[in-house]
Amino acid sequence: MERIPVAGPWITQKEIDYVTDAVTHAWYGQANIYHQRFEEAFSDYLGVGFAVTLPSCTSAIHLSLLALGVGPGDEVIVPDATWIASAAPITYVGATPIFADIDMNTWCLSAEAFKACITPKTKVVIPVNLYGNMPNMDALSEIAESHSIAIIEDAAEAIGSEYKGKKAGSFGDTGVFSFHGSKTLTTGEGGMLVTNREDIYQRVMFLRDHGRPPGNTMFWNTEVGYKYKMSSMQAALGLAQLERIEALIARKQEIFSWYQKGLTGVEGITLNYEAPGTKNTYWMVTAVIDAQFGIKKDRLMELMSRRRIDCRPFFHPLSSLPAYENTVQAKQARKRNQVSYHISPYGINLPSALNITEEQVGYVCQVLINILNEPG
Ligand SMILES: Cc1ncc(COP(=O)(O)O)c(C=O)c1O
Repeated sequence: MERIPVAGPWITQKEIDYVTDAVTHAWYGQANIYHQRFEEAFSDYLGVGFAVTLPSCTSAIHLSLLALGVGPGDEVIVPDATWIASAAPITYVGATPIFADIDMNTWCLSAEAFKACITPKTKVVIPVNLYGNMPNMDALSEIAESHSIAIIEDAAEAIGSEYKGKKAGSFGDTGVFSFHGSKTLTTGEGGMLVTNREDIYQRVMFLRDHGRPPGNTMFWNTEVGYKYKMSSMQAALGLAQLERIEALIARKQEIFSWYQKGLTGVEGITLNYEAPGTKNTYWMVTAVIDAQFGIKKDRLMELMSRRRIDCRPFFHPLSSLPAYENTVQAKQARKRNQVSYHISPYGINLPSALNITEEQVGYVCQVLINILNEPG
């Protein structure tokens, strides 16, 4: 039996046709046609004013922070349990990341923890829609608004997820998405920044093109900016995937339902949660194992790997990573963030590739159950 990969895309003839067309025709005066179509379709899908294609979600967070004027002396609150890309751009702009705890159920930023981390220096909060789930956006937005804190919604993992009927990524001053090869909608590598604010949109368009206004071909740069662009081939792939987004999301939900079925009645395994009024798109099916089994994520992944199943660890708390561990903020976070430190050691992402079969999911569930039942 072949190894079961942890993630991967669903590519059809439509994607191949669009990319073939882009590589054949999207040059010279036509160079941007696929970017325009992808951005328009994306902003329509989300119900937002503006969408900007970018090379990654990391660059989208970087540009969001710059457009919001964040810099040295400012603090930005980010959940402790997320991928480092949510926080690294805070460091790029010279601001200070503050690692706040996650909620026990949603695994997303906890509203109480966010509130407790606010200081007069707090300028921005970056809630993360972890593994496709949604945090309590009402509570987070209310707290942010009452303290004049801007929101960058990190929806990298959550295209199509919803909170009270509103789509992930459409809540903040900006919303940011990743189209990395592991994501529900992929362009290989890529990202999107969305916003309803014209001032942010204009600033982002300027900064992402080496500090010159859109349309300026005269090589006249008024500030030192960045080169953050997506290629036409990536935009074409993204457009084709977006036109199939409902099928992609339905498949993710179906995969989750197979896992639910396979693990029904098994004590001590908690899968992704979906709060009433939210839609979880289950980017990665995640299992948190009860500590009583005495088996931590690294060991569990190793045992799964021996049975040809690839898994990934629940994100390590950022405050535990060598990249941050010696900062004052990380030291404080390690003492404070009990939920992140309670869940992360026992969580693994189960194979969630879009082409996984029900039979493979059944096998993964059986292997997991067998491992947990093995003595010692
Ligand atoms: C929560 C989160 N934020 C940001 C990113 C960064 O995305 P990218 O790899 O496109 O820069 C990712 C991607 O892995 C992510 O999972």
